[in-house]
Order: sequence, then structure tokens, then C-alpha cells
Amino acid sequence: MEKRQEIISGKAKSVYTTDEPNRLIMFFRDDTSAFDGRKVEQLDRKGMVNNKFNAFIMEQLEAAGVPTHFDKLLSEQETLVKRLDMMPIECVVRNIAAGSICKRLGVKEGIDIIPPTFELFLKNDELHDPMINEYHCLSFGWAKEEHITIAKQLTFKVNDVLKELFLTGNMLLVDYKLEFGLYDGEVVLGDEFTPDGCRLWDKDTREKLDKDRFRQDLGDVVESYEVVGKRLGVNFD
Ligand code: TMP
Ligand code: ASP
Repeated sequence: MEKRQEIISGKAKSVYTTDEPNRLIMFFRDDTSAFDGRKVEQLDRKGMVNNKFNAFIMEQLEAAGVPTHFDKLLSEQETLVKRLDMMPIECVVRNIAAGSICKRLGVKEGIDIIPPTFELFLKNDELHDPMINEYHCLSFGWAKEEHITIAKQLTFKVNDVLKELFLTGNMLLVDYKLEFGLYDGEVVLGDEFTPDGCRLWDKDTREKLDKDRFRQDLGDVVESYEVVGKRLGVNFD
């Protein structure tokens, strides 16, 4: 597989074309970013940890029947993926209140959200990823109704699979963000699933083990990501 041109340089990953038109290489950098790119730091080993963590989760999701863009791990920091036509929206499910929903709706951090909520955000840093609804997607052409319906169903299916998986490691899946795209007309999970895009708490102590450690300057960011992975059986060697 020949790596060619960088086509996207995101906040934590870069994406490259390859000699196969329907395959891309995702390179997980050591960069960690929060608050729409206003806080950025390089954290040693983070690219490797997130790359391997993401591969493990994507394989679990595929096995459970969620179509993903994951093809295979290529190196410590690189993964081969299917080239999707991405929808510019973010799908968020919340099982426990934390983060923006607490500020927006005045709910207390840590309360159970029953049933879990589903929210859509527009992927746009300049506008600080504003919350949108399905009508906005249709009216402005960001996504088609049938594709949103499937993305929503898949996002909830991911919740069923991953809530259970994290429980096996004594962790609570508080919330998470997914991005979807189209591959041959099919809605497929793209981007990544790592502790950068979700909240995970220890079930007993409720210690934060995700990117909130970076956002809130709690320290041990990559160390915590590794603890999460190891509790699930991810091999980082
Ligand atoms: P929020 O509380 O900031 O709305 O985020 C909810 C979850 O989704 C949290 O786990 C972080 C994740 N998320 C991202 O990773 N990137 C984003 O741009 C957004 C809006 C959320
Ligand atoms: N909004 C998310 C965060 O605060 C993503 C980002 O801005 O990088 O981390």
C-alpha cells in the first residue's frame, strides 16, 4: 500500500490518499486538542495508543454488525480505512449527564439519562460545533433523511455494544460522538472511537478516564487512555 498525498489535517489525525482510490490512511498524531482547537498539546505515545484503541473498538463493532470503515492496522500510528463520503455531522448519545448538556440544560453532572439522549451537532469549529436538528440536515443538504435514520439506529446499536464492553472493564460509558459517511450508498461508521471522543468513568470511583483529563488539566491523559485499553484487553506493545 503506497501512501500518497495528505488530504486532511485534522486536530489529532491526518488523512492520506493511497494507490487504491477507495482506501485512505489515517495517521494518528500525538496532538491532543480541545475547545475547538483553542487548547493543543503534543502528548508522547498518544497517536499509538489511540490508533490501537480505535482498531480494537472498530473490530468489536464490526463483529457486532455495525459497518465501519476500518480495514486494518498498518503501523503503530497508521490505519487503513475505506474512503467514505462523510456527512458533516456528529451523532452524540448520552447515558449520564456531563459536559455541554449540563451547561445547556442546567442538569447536574452524573445523573443517569433514561432513556439515553441522541443529539446532532454540525462539524464546524468556527461555529463551535453548534447543535442542530434533523430538519437542518435536510434543509441545508448536510444529510438525507434515510441516512440520518440509519446513523441514529447505528449510534444506539453502538451504545448497546460498548456500554456492555466497558462494563466488563468496570467502566461507565457516559457519552460519545460518532461520525458517519457513505460507502457505495451504505451508511458506515467513520472517523474514530477513542477516549478523545467519549467520556468514560470508573464505575466505582467515577474517576474520569477520558479527554476530560486533558480539558480539565487532571494529568495522566495518555496513561488513563492506556488503562482503559488494558482493562478491555487491548495490547499496546
Ligand atoms: P459535549 O458534552 O462537549 O457536547 O460532548 C459530548 C461527547 O461527544 C463527549 O464525549 C465529547 C464528544 N464530542 C467530541 O468528541 N467532539 C465534538 O466536536 C463534540 C461536539 C462532542
Ligand atoms: N468539542 C470537542 C472538545 O472540546 C472537540 C474539539 O473541539 O476538539 O474537545
